[in-house]
Amino acid sequence: MEIEGRVVLVTGAASGIGRASALALASAGARVAVADIDADGAGETVRQIEAAGGTATALAVDVTDAAQVQSMVTAAEEHFGGLDIVHNNAGILVPTHDLAEADLDRTLAMVHINFTAVLLGTRAAIPALQRRGGGAIVQTASVAGLVVYPGNPVYAATKAGVVGFTRSLAHLNEEMNIRVSCICPERVDTPLISGALAGGTLPPGVSLIRPEEVAVGVVQLVRDDQAVGAVMKISPGQPPEMLEDFPTWGVERS
Ligand SMILES: NC(=O)c1ccc[n+]([C@@H]2O[C@H](COP(=O)([O-])OP(=O)(O)OC[C@H]3O[C@@H](n4cnc5c(N)ncnc54)[C@H](O)[C@@H]3O)[C@@H](O)[C@H]2O)c1
Repeated sequence: MEIEGRVVLVTGAASGIGRASALALASAGARVAVADIDADGAGETVRQIEAAGGTATALAVDVTDAAQVQSMVTAAEEHFGGLDIVHNNAGILVPTHDLAEADLDRTLAMVHINFTAVLLGTRAAIPALQRRGGGAIVQTASVAGLVVYPGNPVYAATKAGVVGFTRSLAHLNEEMNIRVSCICPERVDTPLISGALAGGTLPPGVSLIRPEEVAVGVVQLVRDDQAVGAVMKISPGQPPEMLEDFPTWGVERS
């Protein structure tokens, strides 16, 4: 899909990967709805896009609230006259290695922000994209959703959920010209990871990816018409890698 002239909505776009994605898509010629619960950060992303010559608007949203997610999609459509591309990206990281000790409210908030919100954002986007004859949805998953990750089993489960959801929506391409794909970055240099490290250091041999490198992967997934139910891994210092050969289980609807 050509990005020039399209309308894009990015959630979690006040910071980190979402801000980099919003800036990259704007510099590729899209008009961008910058959605986040952090209104000041969203405003700053809009300012940076406009300073670079792009067009953007900020939308305040809690992505875990179905009514707010619907209003966010409607607002983007009304502001720009339609919607073509959605990047469901907002997420948080709450420690859950010691599951019985982990804060339950924060743990459930992570499930809702990292998984439920992706479901809500995708569900609300489908009719909007259909009104334009199709479109692209990119989800931010994580490499944590592809591996056994005892360091944070609930985070891993939310991200595995996003990967499975993405792959199981590949049929939308044939049915309504909507391509769903996801990115699975390793550790990225954002407030999320600095918060998790809490002043500690990275394990030996581990380096951080820049958010701008992840945004390159997002742009590639939007442009690539073959990226259908696609899972893209992003590792430090390497080109994005498309993961293939996942088995498919049945075609019946249940
Ligand atoms: N940083 C990493 O190492 C890394 C690696 C792989 C995947 N990810 C994923 O990338 C995504 C973006 O994370 P990041 O690293 O850029 O973190 P970040 O903290 O820089 O940005 C996350 C954004 O999400 C927003 N957000 C949080 N809860 C929200 C809510 N309820 N409603 C609306 N917005 C909300 C925050 O305000 C923030 O702007 C997340 O899904 C994260 O799980 C991060």
